[in-house]
Amino acid sequence: MTIHIGASPEDIAETVLLPGDPYRARWAAETFLADAKCVNEVRGMLGFTGTWKGNRVTIHGSGMGMPSLSIYVNELIRDYGARTLIRIGSCGAMQDDVKVRDVILAMTASSLSTPSRGIFRELNFAPCADWSLLRGAVAAAEAKSTVVHVGGIYSSDVFYDERPDLNEQMTRHGILGVEMEAAELYNLAARHGRRALAVLTVSDHLITGEALASEDREKSFGDMVEIALQAAFA
Ligand code: HPA
Repeated sequence: MTIHIGASPEDIAETVLLPGDPYRARWAAETFLADAKCVNEVRGMLGFTGTWKGNRVTIHGSGMGMPSLSIYVNELIRDYGARTLIRIGSCGAMQDDVKVRDVILAMTASSLSTPSRGIFRELNFAPCADWSLLRGAVAAAEAKSTVVHVGGIYSSDVFYDERPDLNEQMTRHGILGVEMEAAELYNLAARHGRRALAVLTVSDHLITGEALASEDREKSFGDMVEIALQAAFA
């Protein structure tokens, strides 16, 4: 048990999928895992462990934003020995050729700030995905004929953004989409020598204003879970 995770040490698998939303963790565990059991419900942040094709997997909510994700990922790595951590979440598209429902695999994650800023100070560390996971996820997405984009994303600290000029610079510099967690996941994985990747579905478009309806979100979310599982065990 840790401060924020009530699971016994053996309850958490080495491979952990991290949706932001705890109810999404429950849906993914019930839909994709065999013998899924709830291993955490502290503060309503649900985690489940089961098996996928015979491989043990935990699906655990991260909450929204990097400070929340940082708490869970620190404890999952340091106290439970998680080795492969894959964020599955949504993002807003920042390029014209990236469409709602497409999948983005975050090769790098830029940020204004992360919870690791205190360590890096003046250094602009470049958080990046694990190559083996990225390669596996590309192969899995292509096999499903999912439209997939691989490149840089932006991990923002705010959903309700008051800096349109900054978003314009992100678009100008080829950033594919914006979300709120990946940069710190990559920082923590780098620090502890673990594998990490963010697999993101485009739920809304910052340029066109289009947004996914809730029933479409479920299907896109399912595709992401399958891509993440296949990448983890490729
Ligand atoms: N901004 C930040 N995070 C997000 C967005 C967004 O537009 N869409 C989905 N996650």
